Amino acid sequence: MNIYKKIAVWTENNKVYMINQNKLPFEFEIFNSENYKETANAIKTMITRGAGSIGAAAAFAMMQAAMQAPKNIYNDFIFNAKQEIESTRPTARDLFAATERVYKAAQISAEKAVEEAHKVASEISEAGKKIGEFGNSLISQNSQILTHCNAGWLALVEHGSALAPIYEAFNSGKNIFVYADETRPRNQGARLTAWELNQAGVKHAIIPDNAAAFYMSLGKIEIVITGADRIAANGDTANKIGTLEKAIAAKEFGIPFYIAAPISTFDIKTKTGKDIIIEERSSDEVIYQTGIDENGNIQTLRIASPGSEALNPAFDVTPNKFITGFITEKGIFKPEELYKILK
Ligand code: MRU
Repeated sequence: MNIYKKIAVWTENNKVYMINQNKLPFEFEIFNSENYKETANAIKTMITRGAGSIGAAAAFAMMQAAMQAPKNIYNDFIFNAKQEIESTRPTARDLFAATERVYKAAQISAEKAVEEAHKVASEISEAGKKIGEFGNSLISQNSQILTHCNAGWLALVEHGSALAPIYEAFNSGKNIFVYADETRPRNQGARLTAWELNQAGVKHAIIPDNAAAFYMSLGKIEIVITGADRIAANGDTANKIGTLEKAIAAKEFGIPFYIAAPISTFDIKTKTGKDIIIEERSSDEVIYQTGIDENGNIQTLRIASPGSEALNPAFDVTPNKFITGFITEKGIFKPEELYKILK
């Protein structure tokens, strides 16, 4: 049902619903969780993913914890739940921003936690809308845009971050073309960004992760826009692994490189990118790949040499010197202007 509304995560009667992103683009399934543990596990296993959707899911998980906490151990219960939810995806700033807000409200009452969780989710969604409007000003007619990972409506509750300006440009009648990096190892570009762009009717092509510099060298890419998972106070930005090399290549070829993210992704307590904790994920994500066979069955196959180990850092950090600007719900800022919004 929510494919039409384009909402990735929502709540009704204290249940949390999310589009199961692990099944896309092969199956469209709504996952629902009855309690905070199930919601936390859905974040960890990436049933829902992307900075803003993780934030909304974490807010709802914290809300569920407050609603299910036994009266006699209420404070301990919500404290432990917060720790558990926060341990699911350590790099995603939105997750912590959400749990901190809803936990504070839960300390007053469970009802306040419910109110605050709804607020968190709708603010993330609103931010995406504004990011789209501001970012559209950077996209010219006939523009060819590169994006990495998935930072569309699936990743930000609604509207998206990096894809929001693309949707806005497309809906305002601009002729655009999107190069979507496949984004190994989880293939968020090939699976999710491509699915979203297909649904919206935006012209695009999936490119191998190692092809972006080639297209830049041919003069095919005018602008790069990616999302972010955590942005340090100086503008150093953690985003999906592979973002750093796109930013370096963009600088070499004189292509503007923008990060689109809501203010909730900025982390003023983290001074520089060196202090950002990078999530390490299972080597199985590199060694095995999932797809669909000719009979429509989802299959997982080993694609790497048996006996070899793999390393799987989920994010990298792009130093501020490679970033042209940040597209936020408050406007577009250069790294050296961030102090204006981070007071
Ligand atoms: O590991 P994921 O899929 O949760 O990765 C997060 C992301 O979607 C990206 O890094 C994205 O570019 C920023 S989130 C809108």
